[in-house]
Amino acid sequence: MSRPQHFGWFLARGFGPQGWGYPSLEWDYDWTRPEIYQDAARTLEQAGFDLVIIEDAPSLGSPSTIDLRVRHAFGGPKHDPFLLAPYLFQATRHLGVVPTVNPAAYLPYTAARQFATLQHLSGHRLGLNVVTDTGSARHFSAAPQLGHDEAYDRAEEWLDGIRALWRSWDDGALLADRETDVYADGTRLRAVEHRGEHFDFDGPLNAVPFTDGDPAIVSPGGSGRGLGFAGANSDVQLALAPLNEKSVRDYRARVHDAATESGRRPEDIKILFAIQPVITPSAEEADRIVAASAHPDDAALVQIARKQSSDLETDLTSLDLDRPLDLSVFGAHVSRGSIQRLIGDRGEEAPLRAHLSALARAGRISDRTGFVGTAEEFADLIEELGEWGNDGVLLWGDFHPVTLHRTLDELVPVLRRRGILRREYADGGLQTNLRAF
Ligand SMILES: Cc1cc2nc3c(=O)[nH]c(=O)nc-3n(C[C@H](O)[C@H](O)[C@H](O)COP(=O)(O)O)c2cc1C
Repeated sequence: MSRPQHFGWFLARGFGPQGWGYPSLEWDYDWTRPEIYQDAARTLEQAGFDLVIIEDAPSLGSPSTIDLRVRHAFGGPKHDPFLLAPYLFQATRHLGVVPTVNPAAYLPYTAARQFATLQHLSGHRLGLNVVTDTGSARHFSAAPQLGHDEAYDRAEEWLDGIRALWRSWDDGALLADRETDVYADGTRLRAVEHRGEHFDFDGPLNAVPFTDGDPAIVSPGGSGRGLGFAGANSDVQLALAPLNEKSVRDYRARVHDAATESGRRPEDIKILFAIQPVITPSAEEADRIVAASAHPDDAALVQIARKQSSDLETDLTSLDLDRPLDLSVFGAHVSRGSIQRLIGDRGEEAPLRAHLSALARAGRISDRTGFVGTAEEFADLIEELGEWGNDGVLLWGDFHPVTLHRTLDELVPVLRRRGILRREYADGGLQTNLRAF
């Protein structure tokens, strides 16, 4: 038997039109209603997943490129995942639910109060995916947009403030003593009085303290500053990195070093590596998919161009596929790193078709060139990750039932038989499940 690992699902297009652009849309689910998400949450709980993380961006992006973002629903609309969470808690008993939150959008006192309320309502199953994107700043204030590292500084101040409010009730402040008829001892509540670089506020918080751990803090940033934030603050780090031994061990060491520097223990953080597998019924089918992906037709390339146009806020669909991609089409608002990820090492002379085809190309799990393969092959990969000390994986997809079942139906029995995937939950909330192994 192998070591158990933690499993998370990343709802990658957020609380938005599930299945848009795919044939599965004809199942006619209404993405604005809770049922499709509740069904998915029940499935993930049955499958033994620790948590589901709901992607979010509070903005439709730059005013000049809104049409690119909404036309094929890659960049919006998105409804607020924090308000979806209670519906998912109500549909499940053990699954952790982790909406994405941006410190720019919530004042610390409001955040501390709302998060505390949901932590109690859910039986300690709330997590918060803390992101520092600054592109949506104009929706919240007229203040100048913060730089990359400053946004992390603000997030740390925000979390410190929230934690101070959560701790503003000393042990013994909450009495609920019927004999003496005293509910709480107000002399044991702290004023907090936070005066900082980004926030000023006073406490104490008017929500009662937790009995079974704070909401779990999740973080996805992979920069040096992002890993520093994770080391100091996170219970779960979402990792995007090549899945070879050196890369996995290096990534883990960087997070663990950051934790130690902040006076925490490496085992306080679970690192989940993100994977988007295509699980096939047979090795022959996997070979067929990989072979077909080497020669994508124009329709497949257009679909990729649409997603890239949304992510890069630049219209690639109107460009000639067979001409070199002129990098001047990208305005100053587009991150150079994102452009680099599109063109890879192919250089500016390569036609757009070459860049999009590279994104279309799939590889086999069995030879570690990609993530197409059978459930057994995928389980071999996860087992190998476990041998390198891995804590868990984050499967990536939408919440459409077709996506979920295509990925999980064959995988869950194989992972369970090998002892990699939990069969039962600990008796407690999300933090208890994360610390169970
Ligand atoms: C698995 C994963 C999930 C992410 N989810 C979100 C998200 O929901 N919303 C968001 O604004 N950014 C998201 N990001 C982006 C990060 O928050 C961050 O903006 C990005 O990684 C850049 O930060 P860095 O420079 O520290 O890497 C995600 C990144 C990864 C790897």
